[in-house]
Amino acid sequence: MPHFVWSSEFELGIPVIDGQHRRIIDYINRVYDVLEHDPDQARINAVLTDLVDYTFSHLTFEEAMLEEIGYGDFDSHQLAHRTFTKLIETLRQRALQGESVGAELAAFLNNWLITHIMAEDAGYVDAVQAHLAGSEAGRRRYWLHKAVTRYFQ
Ligand SMILES: [Fe+2]
Repeated sequence: MPHFVWSSEFELGIPVIDGQHRRIIDYINRVYDVLEHDPDQARINAVLTDLVDYTFSHLTFEEAMLEEIGYGDFDSHQLAHRTFTKLIETLRQRALQGESVGAELAAFLNNWLITHIMAEDAGYVDAVQAHLAGSEAGRRRYWLHKAVTRYFQ
């Protein structure tokens, strides 16, 4: 089964966000590893849950960041996330009920992520960079630390 590969063309130049996007791809690859080598339903459900939970945490983090900087297209960006999370949640429920939708879920998430990064996420880069450039280094570190702790622990 094909594994998804991160490419530098997907990088936005915001290290904390790029790191999270890369990690989602890692989780997608874990789903494929399990489907390929250890396709036990409990194992599949476990890796799908890790993938979906991490992805949802990332989206929440990203929204908090965009809200923090007063991003002008926040509402439409959040709507894109919400539409996507509903679809993923539906697929996750089907997977948890034993349907073989693990590969479909991972592929859909991967395609959505790449498309979303290149289109909608690319749209906020200038606004985030401008905000960070205008911030004190200490304040920036404090906010990132606080937000990472809040959403990923
Ligand atoms: Fe986004």
